[in-house]
Amino acid sequence: MSTTEVLISELVEKHGRTRNSLMPILQGIVQQEKFLSEDAMVSVARELNISAADVFGTASFYTFLDTVPRGKNVIRVCKTISCHMKNKDEIIRALENALKIKVGETTHDKEYTLLTANCLGWCHKGPVMLINDEVYPELTPESALKIVNEHMHSK
Ligand code: FES
Repeated sequence: MSTTEVLISELVEKHGRTRNSLMPILQGIVQQEKFLSEDAMVSVARELNISAADVFGTASFYTFLDTVPRGKNVIRVCKTISCHMKNKDEIIRALENALKIKVGETTHDKEYTLLTANCLGWCHKGPVMLINDEVYPELTPESALKIVNEHMHSK
């Protein structure tokens, strides 16, 4: 058994074999492996006795379930209307310059991937970004850079 298969059987053991277990199982895989491979999705479909298309559909609907390899840390800047109105573009530009990558890319050392995301539910405090599962509201380009810098040096 591959490590992914072992992980999947542990997750199935933990969450059960029903349709409702699909999300927690997929999230568990992403947490551990940083992305969802096609093989992993097929294995999950087999384990839960649902079609692979069903799993692919769920994975592509939820942008949190990455289906391509990501960096160790994922930065997501909200691109939805409230954050857009509060200059999320400036935040993105500042991060792109600092990390020397574009949205959708990963730094050479595989430490950071920069993505945009749909509304993160913090519209009243936009613009907002997530680093992994940590929320950073009310950003300015300067504060966003400071946060990312501190994050880099906290490791
Ligand atoms: Fe950005 Fe809702 S619009 S958090």
